[in-house]
Amino acid sequence: MESMKALQKKAISDIEGSKTLEDLRNVEIDIFGRKQGRLTAVLRSLASLSAEKRRVLGGEANKLRAKLQGKLEEKKRSLEKHEQARAMQSEKIDVTFPGVKKEQGHLHPLTLVRMESERIFNALGYAVVEGPEVENEYYNFDSLNIPKNHPSRDQWDTFWIKSDRAAAVKGKREKPEEKYLMRTHTSPVQVRYMEEHNPPFRIIVPGKVFRHEATDASHDFEFWHLEGLTVGKDVSVANLVYTLGTFFKKIFGKESTIRLRPSFFPFVEPGFEFDISCLSCRGKGCSVCKQTGWVELGGAGMVHPKVFEAAGYAKGEWQGFAFGVGLDRIALMKYKIPDIRLFRANDIRFLKQF
Ligand code: FA5
Repeated sequence: MESMKALQKKAISDIEGSKTLEDLRNVEIDIFGRKQGRLTAVLRSLASLSAEKRRVLGGEANKLRAKLQGKLEEKKRSLEKHEQARAMQSEKIDVTFPGVKKEQGHLHPLTLVRMESERIFNALGYAVVEGPEVENEYYNFDSLNIPKNHPSRDQWDTFWIKSDRAAAVKGKREKPEEKYLMRTHTSPVQVRYMEEHNPPFRIIVPGKVFRHEATDASHDFEFWHLEGLTVGKDVSVANLVYTLGTFFKKIFGKESTIRLRPSFFPFVEPGFEFDISCLSCRGKGCSVCKQTGWVELGGAGMVHPKVFEAAGYAKGEWQGFAFGVGLDRIALMKYKIPDIRLFRANDIRFLKQF
């Protein structure tokens, strides 16, 4: 059996040499462990000694036990302090360290143009109205004087939707056999609004529209329209020209030149298309204006009597003008962007510029 001296020497050097609380726990087990503890073995062996030897050795062993327990306790306290200090050190915060700047989100260029357009029209006395993106055939075409099989429907080829998917798109003229589509323009909201409201009024309808068409620098298959409708007693083409002119001056500034061309839309008479001199190339010709120096921004005209009829207004009682502007085209011009497809490409390098 190990001599008491040797045991004491090793135990004290082990206790003092412990670097962590875990080391110390292992040393404690090595000395006092119930099965293999070295002092435990000494104490256990006392039973086989004579009474005299047991008294002497037992006394010494108990003294040693008390001494070692005291040493362990002392070391434990010092290690605990040490480990606490180390933990605090690692958690220390340097309040003078520069912070991590959080990236801030911002509005999409199309949203900026839509909001600015709404502000301009609000100031001209227009209310902002919305309509459904999934539209039925009646409101998108028939109510706007575009009967079935009329060739002008080809102009607005679109995405048709199975009617059971097109959850109720409510409207006064809803018919169960109606076919549904992604609306090709915001003009159907003209009739929807007139069915529910009496003139005089001025409204704009900003909204997403969809067309089944090949894309290029100025055409996408999903884009934004801003519809305008003014109905009253003495509304004329002069009012239309003034309203559009005021809007474009405000949105583009003085450098813009607008032109009106006669054009055909079944829901207006007379009808026009209006263009802006290309701001991307200052009228010289580029990919956005297809080398013509002009970019088509929208269609307009005086509301056709058939549309008033579809809305249920008395014949000849009201006059009105309507227009539909492509908001994406405005954004292209305003920010001098070379390709409309950039708006929906989700390229963060592009979006960060606004
Ligand atoms: C219409 O959709 C008519 N509803 C506009 C209208 C309203 C006329 C009220 C009369 C009275 P149009 O198909 O031309 O018209 O579209 C209007 C504008 O949307 C175009 O002038 C153009 O600026 C924009 N646009 C048309 N197709 C696309 C496309 N594929 N991508 C981006 N913009 C487009």
